[in-house]
Amino acid sequence: MSSRLRTLDDVGVAGKRVLLRVDFNVPMSGGEIVDDARIRESLPTFRRLLESGAAVVVVTHMGRPGGKVVEELRVAPLARRLQEMLGTDVGVAPAVVGDDVAAQVRAMTAGQVLILENVRFEPGEEKNDPGFARRLADLADVYVNDAFGAAHRAHASTEGVAHLLPSCAGLLMQREVEVLGGVLTSPREPLVAIVGGAKISSKIGVMEHLLPRVEKMLVGGAMACTLLKARGARVGASKVEEDQLETGRRLLAEAGDRIVLPVDAVVADGFSEDAARQVVDSAAIPDGWMMLDVGPATVEQFSQAIAGAGTVVWNGPLGVYEMAPFRAGTEGVARAIAAGNAISVVGGGDLGAALSELGLEGSITHVSTGGGATLEFLEGRELPGIRALEEAG
Ligand code: 3PG
Repeated sequence: MSSRLRTLDDVGVAGKRVLLRVDFNVPMSGGEIVDDARIRESLPTFRRLLESGAAVVVVTHMGRPGGKVVEELRVAPLARRLQEMLGTDVGVAPAVVGDDVAAQVRAMTAGQVLILENVRFEPGEEKNDPGFARRLADLADVYVNDAFGAAHRAHASTEGVAHLLPSCAGLLMQREVEVLGGVLTSPREPLVAIVGGAKISSKIGVMEHLLPRVEKMLVGGAMACTLLKARGARVGASKVEEDQLETGRRLLAEAGDRIVLPVDAVVADGFSEDAARQVVDSAAIPDGWMMLDVGPATVEQFSQAIAGAGTVVWNGPLGVYEMAPFRAGTEGVARAIAAGNAISVVGGGDLGAALSELGLEGSITHVSTGGGATLEFLEGRELPGIRALEEAG
């Protein structure tokens, strides 16, 4: 059975009180926002709602406070940044629900924005408690979910409330579903996947789901070491998930030459920026040395595959990006994608931040705002926050 995402074209918001779920769970350091991409990407939805004469009650989570108030996880810094970016006053409610909040919401007029306190301060949120979902629903006439990054969570504000009000996806949610869905169902061929990151165990699902669809799957990051070892390489002191070697062997056997592993590696004699380092053959990493990035010949090989791609989908860095000596692999591949003509879709989190630091974000077709959600989507799993906005077709 096919299904269709309800969008803002399906649900009237003019003059309505809209409960807008966003994912403003942004990286913070010392009370400061480190990367505001998730806030920026939600602005088109805010603008559309405000231009339609809606009053917008914003709901987000921040961190994992576990159902109680945690001072450092209050939404005030998020509200300030939203206000700056939107150029409109953003009020901050004293709590998530309660009489004071309800009174504040009732007093709102068209074009006003009020952000509720961190929804995970409420124990009912992560339990998807129907009573709590009802209290959220009572604050508004319509529910709009733009929190793609939290769509893999079946929580009260991402799932439960969608069944209690006329509900639809916001513009960011819609775009994420269209672009990521397009990679899976109708990519411009050939499709090339790039998979990196530390742990192969967290990427098996996405590899298995993408493998039948790709021409090539380029693998980097520490996870490549598990596959290299599974293929019989000497990996020195590199991080290997021993319990995944069997799975690795199976994947390699199934994929044939579609899985492309690094041919060379930047190795170091310790996990630190100032460790000694050298470039070696990836099949013969010396004892005591660990692979912390892919080498230049690998970047060249990956770049050629990228140049021939119709669509590139990328999840996970190829080296230890946060340490300057080990970021050349990720940077080289990012530049190859930016220089090519493929439709490019990059999956969230660290990579998104790396791309904006490199000034390459604008050359990528779509940088997903999801971390875990993007991964689960690309694994072909049904995300509860999206499912609740769909109708059977
Ligand atoms: C994320 O950052 O991936 C989302 O906001 C979900 O956060 P969570 O993993 O704490 O549910």
